Amino acid sequence: MLARVWSASIVGIDALKVGVEIDVAGGLPGIVVVGLPDTAVQESRERVKTALKNAGYAFPMRKIVINLTPADVRKEGPSFDLPISVGILVASEQVSAQLLGDYLFLGEVSLDGSLRPIAGVLPIAATAEKLGIVGLVVPVDNAQEAAVIKDVSVYGFKHLSEVADFLNNPQRYQPVQSNVQQLSKTRSYSGDLKDVKGQAHARRALEIAAAGGHNLIFVGPPGSGKTMLARRLPGILPPLSFAEALEATQIYSVAGLLKNHGSLVSDRPFRSPHHSASGPSLVGGGSFPRPGEISLAHHGVLFLDELTEFKRDVLEFLRQPLEDGYVTVSRTRQSVVFPAQFTLVASTNPCPCGYYGDSIQPCTCSPRQREQYWAKLSGPLMDRIDLQVAVNRLKPEEITQQSTGENSDSVRQRVQAARNRALQRFDSEIRCNAAMQSSHLKTWCQLDATASTLLEGAIRKLGLSARASDRILKVARTIADLAGDENLQVHHVAEAIQYRTIDRMQ
Ligand SMILES: Nc1ncnc2c1ncn2[C@@H]1O[C@H](COP(=O)(O)OP(=O)(O)OP(=O)(O)O)[C@@H](O)[C@H]1O
Ligand SMILES: [Mg+2]
Repeated sequence: MLARVWSASIVGIDALKVGVEIDVAGGLPGIVVVGLPDTAVQESRERVKTALKNAGYAFPMRKIVINLTPADVRKEGPSFDLPISVGILVASEQVSAQLLGDYLFLGEVSLDGSLRPIAGVLPIAATAEKLGIVGLVVPVDNAQEAAVIKDVSVYGFKHLSEVADFLNNPQRYQPVQSNVQQLSKTRSYSGDLKDVKGQAHARRALEIAAAGGHNLIFVGPPGSGKTMLARRLPGILPPLSFAEALEATQIYSVAGLLKNHGSLVSDRPFRSPHHSASGPSLVGGGSFPRPGEISLAHHGVLFLDELTEFKRDVLEFLRQPLEDGYVTVSRTRQSVVFPAQFTLVASTNPCPCGYYGDSIQPCTCSPRQREQYWAKLSGPLMDRIDLQVAVNRLKPEEITQQSTGENSDSVRQRVQAARNRALQRFDSEIRCNAAMQSSHLKTWCQLDATASTLLEGAIRKLGLSARASDRILKVARTIADLAGDENLQVHHVAEAIQYRTIDRMQ
């Protein structure tokens, strides 16, 4: 008998409906899988055979042909174990076929028949909703993740035998209820800005970065608080909206990184890859492309600590995504697009010994050493970093006194107010000032004669590119938003320009 079970496969961060056709017919016993399966799908044959036997079902001693459609898309991973098991049970008439047309089946099956969670269930549920599919049958550990999508009924099971019982007696089972409501209220960030002593200039830059989504670099001697400050950025960003959380979760789901297989990513992502990171781990890659750190930081922060320690060619990969907000990963078999709208925060010492420009410790580096050090950060990369901030060592009296800085909650309120102003202005077309295009600049960043002259002078003196000058306008817009000013004024532009002076200090 022939059975057709529906399942799905991940392509990028989207999903594709896949048909699993199973024919159990006469001939020498054996199983063949056709339709571009990868090794994990091939191995499915052995897992399913043993699992069915161990779960107490008869495994048909006949020729079994498994065909995955559409045949031209490569299928990967262990998620086809469950649809294949169900198909064999139906084709060998051990369970009822009544529900097969309306449900998608996904899940890895252990040798004892228990179901193990898989990656990418959320995008599959989202696709199922778009296709008007009634329900999803998944391992219980994936159920909450899938249940985020409202218009699809999700059934989570622990064992193959429960799935078989569900197929025979669906009326006995209830779909899973989503617990998203509870999750969205929890916010957990490590560290509060109130712990940071002094560094008013750096705190201000952090607030501007949060309010406008601008990229930021802290440059300063060891122990001045660069890492400490950068780690506090997510805590002053506004909470994720539901749509943002859904997008972020989709990426984590595909990467198999959803914490405890919970439902939604509820906190702003903060990713801090080590400086030994490779290009593909940063921007995405693999023969079945997986999202990299920049996509895992989507709607959040990508923190590159000790920026000059990263390999130069790896940093070059960041150039296009920083401009576009997405990255295209091309492989011979497929080319996929991953979203990557992140705020880049970087930190570095000003020179190899770390003390160039320090008020106490003399720098021991030669000019040539400093030049080589900065050469690692190519012009094009620094050009994309709007806020370049010197973080100097604390004064002795600042170190010994208690910190008197504002806490993250009150800074976040100002950030939120500035962001709301921007959102209103853009009518939610774009989400922050950093994402403005030339047309927006023309409308929202007009300068009066004095401000224009000031900017022109800075372009000449600092040798700024057209991009850098556009970015100054965006930062000035954010500074005006924080102040609640409708129009750009000369002091907004002046402040924005002074964040552009550091890469000329070496
Ligand atoms: N401004 C500050 N306020 C309070 N504590 C600080 C400050 N700066 C540094 N510290 C203390 O020093 C520790 C080290 O700071 P941090 O790691 O941020 O320095 P850094 O500038 O990143 O140094 P490096 O260049 O070596 O990476 C912090 O964990 C904190 O305990
Ligand atoms: Mg540090």
